[in-house]
Amino acid sequence: MFPFTSLSFTSVSPHSPDQETTLTIDGAQLQVGLQYTETDGLKPLINWLDGLQKANHGRSKGEGWRVTPGCGSQDLIYKAVQCMVNPGDAVLIESPVYAGVIPIFASLNCKQIEVETDAYGICSSSLRKTLEQWPKGKPKPKVLYTIPYGCNPTGVTATTDRRKEVLELARQHNFMILEDDPYFYVYYGEAPRYPSYFQLELDEPEVGRVIRFDSFSKILSAGIRIGFASGPSVLLNAIDQLTSTANLQVPTLTQLIIFRLLDSWGYDGFAAHVQRVGQFYKEKRDIFERAMRKHLTGLVEWTSPEAGMFLWIKSLRVLLPRFKILLTDERAGASSVSGDAGDSETVIRTRAFANDVLAMPGAPFIPNGGRTPYVRASFSLIGEDEVDVAMQRLRETILQERAARKAMATLGTSTTREESLDEL
Ligand SMILES: Cc1ncc(COP(=O)(O)O)c(C=O)c1O
Repeated sequence: MFPFTSLSFTSVSPHSPDQETTLTIDGAQLQVGLQYTETDGLKPLINWLDGLQKANHGRSKGEGWRVTPGCGSQDLIYKAVQCMVNPGDAVLIESPVYAGVIPIFASLNCKQIEVETDAYGICSSSLRKTLEQWPKGKPKPKVLYTIPYGCNPTGVTATTDRRKEVLELARQHNFMILEDDPYFYVYYGEAPRYPSYFQLELDEPEVGRVIRFDSFSKILSAGIRIGFASGPSVLLNAIDQLTSTANLQVPTLTQLIIFRLLDSWGYDGFAAHVQRVGQFYKEKRDIFERAMRKHLTGLVEWTSPEAGMFLWIKSLRVLLPRFKILLTDERAGASSVSGDAGDSETVIRTRAFANDVLAMPGAPFIPNGGRTPYVRASFSLIGEDEVDVAMQRLRETILQERAARKAMATLGTSTTREESLDEL
């Protein structure tokens, strides 16, 4: 009694984007697509994804892992955490981090132990220190959450050495690595791609410490809501049980649409498509950085991303957290600390907003909150002309803020401050 009789969609060819192909789903295939399917995924799609993991991560069947689909990787990360973490547990989270995972851990009242990151990705030495200094008698964290490629928000990609050291620590201190990798296929660095944790664990004495989360949101469609997890079967079984009670399955029809597209492309076509995606973002990054160099040199600093779509920009001096102004209120005879010193959020909400430019303040990306002089900019959508105007306005904003702070510091008759006026 289902009224649908045929479904057609048209997509560009991965090899020649000017060419379009129309695919039709009808007959017996459509009947499958319109029905419920197994929680662990539509078989043809899962088989295709097994092959994809073999091609990109060198992982073969029979190594104790499998793939399961989710409504985006977010769905799977949420469920994986529910399966592995008890309320109140300590968890390791790289910082700054994708703001969307913080509430997952916060809702379980987890103690979020922040692991530093720098231009080379997660700081394995700082992780080692945290674990080696862990209080005796307190249970160690069971999971580490990390975004190895083009991190949201920092844009940074973790080097192979860092990844290897983290894997070694996972073995030594007995925790699982949640490898959240939606920007793996949005890589545009010059050097060959670094191997994933999922691949690198093959060099370890044993496998099974990595759950890898892939997403189609950045390369096929975000709205179609499909991602997939790869990892130890025992954990994926637990995730599937959660899915079977929460939402039964990922919609069959969307799994079928994705499968038909991928199957028509083949692995070579998929590789050609993601290469084109990477190239697109590389050009966007270059445009963005050109405008930043033109308008913001000397005012901000950043690390050039090699994957993903984010730039993590630090405003120099004017927003540094250690910059505090203590102004003496003559009438009240008391000192007050200017409330917004060092926090990018206030400047974005007030002065940047008034100047018609927005960026994402950095604070929501810090697991335990706090102030930060950073902002996150995304270079996925806006065009070249807009980027140039945006950077001009950002420049104006920073210069105005500097001038205002300088004036404020000069006004204070008995002013103490952590930076000298010259530094402003
Ligand atoms: C690091 C990270 N993880 C997960 C997600 C969610 O991805 P999905 O659309 O596959 O749920 C995002 C989305 O932006 C992200 O940046």
